[in-house]
This record gives sequence, structure tokens and C-alpha cells, in this order.
Amino acid sequence: MKYRRFGRTDWNVSEIGYGMWGMGGWTGSDDTASMEALQLGVDLGCNFFDTAWGYGEGRSEALLGRLLRANPDKKLYTATKIPPKNWKWPSQREFSLDDCYPPDHIVEYVNRSLENAGIEQYDLMQFHTWEDSWVDDDRWANTMDDLKRQGLIRAVGISMNRWEPWNGVKTVRSGLIDAVQLIYNIFDQNPEDELFPACDEMNVAVIARVPFDEGTLTGKLTKESTWPEDDWRSTYFVPENLNSSVDHADAIKPLVPAEMTMAEMALRFILANPTVSTIIPGMRKLPHVRANIATSDAGPLDAAVHAELKKHRWDREPTAWSQ
Ligand SMILES: NC(=O)c1ccc[n+]([C@@H]2O[C@H](COP(=O)([O-])OP(=O)(O)OC[C@H]3O[C@@H](n4cnc5c(N)ncnc54)[C@H](OP(=O)(O)O)[C@@H]3O)[C@@H](O)[C@H]2O)c1
Repeated sequence: MKYRRFGRTDWNVSEIGYGMWGMGGWTGSDDTASMEALQLGVDLGCNFFDTAWGYGEGRSEALLGRLLRANPDKKLYTATKIPPKNWKWPSQREFSLDDCYPPDHIVEYVNRSLENAGIEQYDLMQFHTWEDSWVDDDRWANTMDDLKRQGLIRAVGISMNRWEPWNGVKTVRSGLIDAVQLIYNIFDQNPEDELFPACDEMNVAVIARVPFDEGTLTGKLTKESTWPEDDWRSTYFVPENLNSSVDHADAIKPLVPAEMTMAEMALRFILANPTVSTIIPGMRKLPHVRANIATSDAGPLDAAVHAELKKHRWDREPTAWSQ
């Protein structure tokens, strides 16, 4: 595993971090299996873990707490997220800071997340939704500063809405945050336009999430794929999205190099970007943990393959189902 500097902090985080949403809420998750997968991640050098109160209302955070206690001699970086008070994902332009993150709500959920994990401090506390217009209201930043002074958190981040990389550029440029979490993968290359240059300039860390486009970029979805009704993916991969996602994945299948999976290609595409601090694939199966972590040592893709994949950028607009 290779490590990268996490923005302006002095943290060295693993190139492959760990996304902990699936194990908190997707169907088919089993806590014993999840703990085994997480421990394998630690054993193979993963040291950055992303969770949220919203991932099973604390279930995923509790797993992270267990992982920390099982590995007292290792520095594992913990990142979680405060849910919006109105419980609406994604954020909409008309939502106010008071609708989503008034100071008392911030304080309440930081404490709840600490209790869920049974720990005294999170390294990174993120807002689970964001509107760039909120940056001018200094109450959120003052509240986070207080929490830092109390030692409950060390750094502050925003988790940006799907397919809206523009909706955080001003906040990055404000100097008030340490990290952004956003979607960046073979399809979603648009953070390169405005957001990444701002992050480079301000030395803000970048957490690249959803590297497999929720599964499309593993090449394993088909137009017949289905999920149980209570699985979030059944509401995301509605026919309109599933059909076009599979078409876009099929278009890159001929580019997958021999002896490489599409998932490996997807991660190694992202590794080529030096602005990215860590990539956080969701992974519950042991072979997935092994394969994903191995991509760090394998390094970025061959330049010719990378250049071909650049042509498969797919700019999308948020819609009713995109959440
Ligand atoms: N608003 C937000 O802040 C937000 C939103 C979405 C995600 N996130 C964060 O980003 C993380 C990653 O996103 P995600 O989990 O939604 O989607 P993702 O990483 O794009 O895809 C996860 C899916 O890929 C499968 N997978 C993993 N490695 C694989 C491999 N090598 N080969 C084939 N399949 C593989 C996983 O299977 P198994 O689980 O069965 O191993 C899972 O079904 C989340 O866990 C969460 O921490 C944040």
C-alpha cells in the first residue's frame, strides 16, 4: 500500500481507503463478515475509514469503533458525517443552513457519532450534504472550531452532492475546510474542471468516493439486475439509470487490459490523479478488499489506456432518482 498526504494535515493516508456505507445499510450485510473484511483491510495497510451516522443509524460507526479497539497499536484515521437535520439527500438550493445544520444539531450529532463508535475523537467530521451558499454564514465554522478546541474532532470536511462538483468550490476557496469528499471516477471526471484546481491551490484533501459508480464500473451489472426493495440501489438503478449505466460500462469493456478486471481499471484510473488523497471503495467481500488494495501497489494505468478512458467522461445532472 502507498500513502499520500491528506491535504494540509500531517496525516499520511492509504491510497485505498475504506467506504463503510454498504455494511451499514445495504442488504446482504453481516456484521461478522464486515468485521473480517475491515480487519483484512487494516492488515493490508488500509488506514482511512469513511462512515456516517446515516449508514444504518450508527451501525457502521459502531463497526468502526470495534475495529479501532481491535487495533490499538495502529493509527487508523476515522471520518464520519453529520446527517442534515431535515433528513433530505441530496441538498436542494432552497435548503438553508438552519434547515440542515444549525449549531445545536451539529453538536448533538457529533456526540451521537462518538457514542456510536465508543470513541473520544473523530479525525475528520464531514457535513453529509452541502450548499456552497452556506459558507458565508459563520455559525457552522465557529461550531466546528469549538468542537476542535474540545478535542472531539481534528479536521472538517464537506461531502458534496452527487454530480455537483461546482457546489463547493467557494467553500474550498474559503480556507475553512480541510477536506472534500466527492464522486470521481471514469465517468465522473468533472471535478477536474474547477474543484481540483481549487483543492490544489488551497491544499484541501480530496476523498474520491463511489469509484465504481455504485457498481456499474465493476462491469457486473446487466439490464436485468435487481435489488431487494429495501436496498437503496433499487431506488437508484431505476430502469432509466440502469439501462444507460450498463450501456456506458459496455462501451469501456473493450478497453479493459488483459488480466485486469474492470474494477481494477476503475481504481487505477483514479490513482493517476495526484490531487486525490484517498479512494474509498465500498467493499464487504474479502476478495474485493484484497483486489482493491492491490491496485495501490500496481499504480496508475498505462498512459495510453488512461487517455482512451478519458474520452468516456459522462456528465450527468441530478434528477429525481439520483439522490
Ligand atoms: N453522500 C455521501 O457522502 C456518500 C454517498 C455515497 C457513498 N459514500 C461513501 O463512498 C463509499 C463508496 O461508495 P459506494 O460503496 O456507494 O459505491 P462503490 O464503491 O462505487 O461500489 C460499491 C460496490 O462495489 C462492489 N465492489 C467493491 N470492490 C469490488 C471489486 N473489486 N470487484 C467487484 N465489485 C466490487 C461492492 O461489493 P461488496 O460490498 O459486496 O464487496 C459494492 O457492491 C461508501 O461506502 C461511503 O463511504 C458517501
